[in-house]
Amino acid sequence: MPDIVYPIQLYDKQVFFGRSGARETLFAGGVGCGKTYALVWRELMLCVKHPGSIGMLGAYTYPMLRDILKPILFQYLAAWPDDLWEYHKTDEMIVLKTGRNHSQIWLRHLEDETKRRGPSVDRVSITELGTGITEQVYMQLMARLRRGTRQHMSADTNAGSTESWIYKRFFDKPEDRRLIIARTKDNPYLPPEYVKDMYSQPEAWVRRYVEGEWGIMEGHIYSEFQRDLHVKAFTPDRDWRWFLAVDFGFRNPFVALWIGLDKEGHTYIWDEHYASKITVDVHAGMISGGSTCQACNRVHDWREHALPVRNVVFDTADPGAFFLLQKKLKEYNVYVGSSPARKDVSLGIQFCQTKLHQKRVTIHPKCVNFLREINLYEWAPAIPGRPEKEMPRGVDDHAMDAWRYFEATVGNI
Ligand SMILES: Nc1ncnc2c1ncn2[C@@H]1O[C@H](COP(=O)(O)OP(=O)(O)O)[C@@H](O)[C@H]1O
Ligand SMILES: [Mg+2]
Repeated sequence: MPDIVYPIQLYDKQVFFGRSGARETLFAGGVGCGKTYALVWRELMLCVKHPGSIGMLGAYTYPMLRDILKPILFQYLAAWPDDLWEYHKTDEMIVLKTGRNHSQIWLRHLEDETKRRGPSVDRVSITELGTGITEQVYMQLMARLRRGTRQHMSADTNAGSTESWIYKRFFDKPEDRRLIIARTKDNPYLPPEYVKDMYSQPEAWVRRYVEGEWGIMEGHIYSEFQRDLHVKAFTPDRDWRWFLAVDFGFRNPFVALWIGLDKEGHTYIWDEHYASKITVDVHAGMISGGSTCQACNRVHDWREHALPVRNVVFDTADPGAFFLLQKKLKEYNVYVGSSPARKDVSLGIQFCQTKLHQKRVTIHPKCVNFLREINLYEWAPAIPGRPEKEMPRGVDDHAMDAWRYFEATVGNI
């Protein structure tokens, strides 16, 4: 076999990650600790070690694939003799001619559902797992590991919430899963000024993004949320004003929250309908209740409680979806008017924060997706040296959007 040169020498933690034999391996740690370099190294090394194998190298979005993964991959390949590899641009595929059988690396961004499906592979390697990849997507990718005898799922990530699925998967139940943790300063190849600069950022940021500590949610938007204060089973009262707060989605979940507002302006979040890849007319049937909702696996029994839902609060970006929902609900004898949402993000969030602070919101424990999202809902991380823009991270925020539409539109009058 011709000489394969790796232009870099891995440091110890990168080697532990790169050579892990576990079925699932995660490299978690501070920015710049060398996670993605190790991830790409691992993918190439396994391609060479297992001729004829196929690996998928992915990131959540196309820009992440283009700006993070590809430059590193091509930096490695540039050190190899030209006749050892080919780049097939239209297929976004690298062919490695390092053994008798050629190996392949498929470059994929995973935001697009169709890119996640497809034929079996030997390996899947994902960068920045904590950015956008849900556990369902991860499992969907795992299900493609059907080729060859040695299958590997590898990923890198920054530290995040201890409520996240990644934490639960790799910290709580590590069977056949390997976790490697590093701090920024573990990477001996970083320029000292860079390391110094990273350590001079705000403390919470350093702990999470430099030291790689989990559960540091300085960016947690609803930090005042507390299970024992805000979550309680309650009996809905038909004298409250009742609304459906809706965030439309197809690929992303469609969310409808049944929300009651009492005379004092206390918000009661009674039930949720939360499902993706279902058309609006089918949602209408599920929302109307009567039988077990196929998506949520329980009956949305609001009509048995005779809750007078009058209006739907919804995102005006999609009025067509509202009119369709309204029309279809009519077929189930549900008549609702419209309350187009005030959509200002920071205003809506402030209303919700105030409700939490004043303990004027009660969430029924059956709203499990709402409760998952409220724990994970956080501000987009600030980038050192750039002015901070206060925007939520934009993932796992569908029930949160529906709730803030409600509070900004009708919850505070
Ligand atoms: N083994 C190594 N040898 C030399 N430089 C490295 C090595 N690993 C990483 N680097 C350098 O460190 C920087 C950060 O690595 P990267 O993998 O992008 O970090 P992370 O993904 O953890 O944020 C890269 O720009 C690269 O130049
Ligand atoms: Mg990286």
